[in-house]
Amino acid sequence: MGLTHIRTPKNFVLEDRLERYAAAIEQRPETYRGRWGEACSPCGDAARGGATCGDTPCSSAPRGYTPGFGRVHLDLGCGKGAYLVARAQREPSALFIGMDTEPICIAYAAQNIVETGLSNAIVLPRSADSIERLFGPGELAGITLNFPTPFPKRKFARKRLTSVDHLLSYRRVLAPGAAVTLRTDSQPLHDFTLTQLDAAGYRVLWASNDTRAEHPEHPETEYERRLAEQGATVYGICATPGPEPTPEQIQTGRDAEQSLVAYLPRNLDSIGYIPLGMEGAVLNLRNRQRNERAHNH
Ligand SMILES: C[S@@+](CC[C@H](N)C(=O)[O-])C[C@H]1O[C@@H](n2cnc3c(N)ncnc32)[C@H](O)[C@@H]1O
Repeated sequence: MGLTHIRTPKNFVLEDRLERYAAAIEQRPETYRGRWGEACSPCGDAARGGATCGDTPCSSAPRGYTPGFGRVHLDLGCGKGAYLVARAQREPSALFIGMDTEPICIAYAAQNIVETGLSNAIVLPRSADSIERLFGPGELAGITLNFPTPFPKRKFARKRLTSVDHLLSYRRVLAPGAAVTLRTDSQPLHDFTLTQLDAAGYRVLWASNDTRAEHPEHPETEYERRLAEQGATVYGICATPGPEPTPEQIQTGRDAEQSLVAYLPRNLDSIGYIPLGMEGAVLNLRNRQRNERAHNH
């Protein structure tokens, strides 16, 4: 899982898990592009767990009942699914789709869905790069990016889920007025994201330096719990697509795809908490700054 190793129990066999919780995993998600809300019936067998996606109408639906979810929400980089499950429990009339590239995360998230008996949540083993092959124009009512892998190095900047090109692809699948919400422990990733949102023509609806206090409507994620214990602040940004960006605007965003070190404050001794993935970089830079100060002195 990106920068941190996922500890698995001793007897954890990935293939077994994926098979056991297959009811909550959609292996051919491209099939449902543009019709997730209708294809995944809310009257699926809850005991089985997982939204029931398919082309056969739901037989247990009452007469006159129109199957389908009114809203489809994507939790991109869902990890082990705590956030996905909590939102799905709270909002039964919406379909919650989790997506992750890491099979272990998919297995855990699917287990979580099945064991909770949810019929409005499902996970897709796919990368953010495939988003337009999975969702039709305007299909999503919201995208959440909770503690996305920061990819601090410049050469991996395009992999950041808030890079301008990712944000441009989200624009194409978001419904009018729908928003992308980022939450992160990383002030550099937060500041980088503001440059990219601007370049991709988004309008910021809210930005917070303490989303736990100011936006408690967002359930806690696994990473959030761990990082908060280590003293992390949770930054958040919620933004919606505005007018189409110009090619020059987009290029400005690509030019800002630097190492996240460029977004650190100048005085590194002022940082109390080092964001996930930047421990080595911050310690090296701090030592360098201290050596330079000693040398000048
Ligand atoms: C730091 S974890 C956070 C997990 C979860 N959202 C949380 O807050 O606990 C980041 C997750 O993003 C996933 N990820 C990274 N790049 C991705 C991509 N391009 N598409 C989908 N998932 C991705 C990783 O596999 C990992 O599970």
